[in-house]
Amino acid sequence: MVRAIDWVNGKVRMLDQTRLPLEVRFVDIDDYKVVAEGIKKLWIRGAPAIGIASAMGIALAAIDINTSDVETFKKELEPAIDTMIGTRPTAINIRWAMDRIKMLMESNSDRSVNELKAMLIEEGQKILNEDIEINRSIGKWGADFLKDGDTVLTHCNAGALATGGYGTATAPIHVSIEQGKRISVIADETRPVLQGARLTAWELMQAGVPVTLITDNSAGALMKKGYIDAVIVGTDRTVANGDVANKIGTYSVAVLCKEHSIPFYVAAPISSIDFSLDNGELIPIEERDSSEVTLVSGECRIAPEGVNVINMAFDVTPAEYVTAIFTEKGAFRPSDLAKLADEGTDLEKIRISP
Ligand code: MRU
Repeated sequence: MVRAIDWVNGKVRMLDQTRLPLEVRFVDIDDYKVVAEGIKKLWIRGAPAIGIASAMGIALAAIDINTSDVETFKKELEPAIDTMIGTRPTAINIRWAMDRIKMLMESNSDRSVNELKAMLIEEGQKILNEDIEINRSIGKWGADFLKDGDTVLTHCNAGALATGGYGTATAPIHVSIEQGKRISVIADETRPVLQGARLTAWELMQAGVPVTLITDNSAGALMKKGYIDAVIVGTDRTVANGDVANKIGTYSVAVLCKEHSIPFYVAAPISSIDFSLDNGELIPIEERDSSEVTLVSGECRIAPEGVNVINMAFDVTPAEYVTAIFTEKGAFRPSDLAKLADEGTDLEKIRISP
């Protein structure tokens, strides 16, 4: 499976996803500011993948700091951490990764600067490898909810390209296929940046998963005709009450699911759950440049120059529309999600099965 982000010879290797599917081009980056730029410009995107990229970016920043004094080192790292957090506001994974970095440094403040640098370099790769394992677990729990012959609709790209590998929303599909079930996918094209058309369709075809591309406005008609058995999407941030922020258009799909009695599942690694927010209205929603809407591929104009545009990159689906949330710890009702924050919770009691 394709690797969108990696650490190779002391540099961050990123697949520039803005060029897909026309060109598979990797860039090797040795400056944390370029990593941050790559996150902003969507060379790398998808909540877990930008969490990994930001952690690796911090390793690059650490390498460039020239001091043997630990306090100075920590101080000089702060602007890089703030830069990463400022890149994209909705996905919680960047803040999660930066909190993890800060905790690592706090709990190792007796170490030398060189030791801390080595730890930070290791941490980015650790987050990447853990992410792949987490996705496999999400896949294992989620696959129980898919039957032989099912067609699954997904929105945006929550596949290998959006993660360390394997994907979140795509994981139950891959596991089901490994189990011998025949599963096919319908990918929403996902205006305006077309992650479904450019990325999901591409990566699933590479992986040999049957995939059919549709325009975003086709989902309702296909549901009405009985073409769709389940929807699985990823999330940029899911909060304590089970409200889910994901790519703009997800909410419309969830509402359609309710109308057509189709299960609407969310694949969410625990790193994408923000237990500090009580409801989805509190999630900051990224607004992106109007040119994403008025131009196709940044070049071809499809709307009048100067037209007013609203370009919210994400929306929030209220928990009441969510059938189940697949995490690495099991599948849960959205209303039970907050209990995952409590280490004493008996997960057996709140896990759900189909
Ligand atoms: O703007 P993007 O491409 O970063 O949006 C990505 C999504 O909305 C994904 O569904 C989400 O990050 C989950 S990725 C496993």
